[in-house]
Amino acid sequence: MSRRCVGLLIVAAAGALALAISPAQGAEAFEELGAGGTVLGDISPDRGEADTFGVDLVAGSTLDVTLKAGFAVGLAVTDPDGSPFTVTLVRGRAKGLAVPLSGRYEVRVSATNTSGGKYTLKLKPKWAKKVTFEGTDAGSFPFDVPAGATVRASVRSAKGSTLVPTLAMTSPSEAVVVPERVATKNKVSFSSTPSAEIGTHMVVVGASAGSGAFRLVVSRKVPKPVLRKVDVRHGPPGLSFAKDGIGEILQETCVSCHKWPERYETAVGRGTSVVNRLRAKDMPRRPVTMSKADRKKLIKWFESSREP
Ligand code: HEC
Repeated sequence: MSRRCVGLLIVAAAGALALAISPAQGAEAFEELGAGGTVLGDISPDRGEADTFGVDLVAGSTLDVTLKAGFAVGLAVTDPDGSPFTVTLVRGRAKGLAVPLSGRYEVRVSATNTSGGKYTLKLKPKWAKKVTFEGTDAGSFPFDVPAGATVRASVRSAKGSTLVPTLAMTSPSEAVVVPERVATKNKVSFSSTPSAEIGTHMVVVGASAGSGAFRLVVSRKVPKPVLRKVDVRHGPPGLSFAKDGIGEILQETCVSCHKWPERYETAVGRGTSVVNRLRAKDMPRRPVTMSKADRKKLIKWFESSREP
């Protein structure tokens, strides 16, 4: 195993240990977002801190999640029963996650190692406008209706089918929302109808005569959700270039060969490349001698909290 590999392994192990033993403390955020919204937040490095958000979702909707962060960010979501709700982010995004239960979902944002920094979290509920069902002769089709929504539907018998369809809709408590209508020929519909109840309604297709295949299209109009925008950033205490001696360490160990470490303004933009070098201990000619503590301080400063 090369020297570089050993170094990286030690860094990884130390990170896991620090996360396991550091108690949750400090400026953790707790916010209720209602129907959803945007959060600007931050996680302090090295503290095992997590921010927690509640969002009220309705079964039958879908959820879009965006999480952007300048550090190794972790996301954990639980459903209203407290069971894990899987969100797999690809490049910080997950789209169209089916919401199986109505109620409060809990979203936790944390760092997966001892880093930290700012993040942006977006939680956006969506409703499919139009759902198409296919059937033969008759059938009952569940359709989720959120508060304030209206529903319209239309059923048409397929080519070659002798079916003369009927159409009706009942509420979750089985009250009749749309009484049965009969097609004059092969098609029957009802226009924008509100319901006194929210939840899973049944759109019911029956046969007044004949038989055969049909196609049912159900649409809903949902009021725009009120999305909240919250800023829970408290500014990670972080390390200061001047106060915590970052400038001095750079002066002693790097300025002999580089000019940029002399000043905060020119050092601040170099985050990733410096962290990679420091982690890999990949310095040219002769290894830079630096204490473990200084190396750790530098990595932390370049990774996240960059105060002047
Ligand atoms: C003995 C001279 C020397 C010292 C001391 C030195 N470097 Fe370098 N460094 C170099 C040279 C030469 C290169 C370009 C060649 C290479 O990439 O290996 C370089 C490249 C780099 C790069 C990649 C290119 C860039 O500018 O982004 C980084 C990052 C870096 N050094 C960071 C540091 C840091 C941080 C320190 C102090 C802890 C440091 N170096 C100390 C000589 C040095």
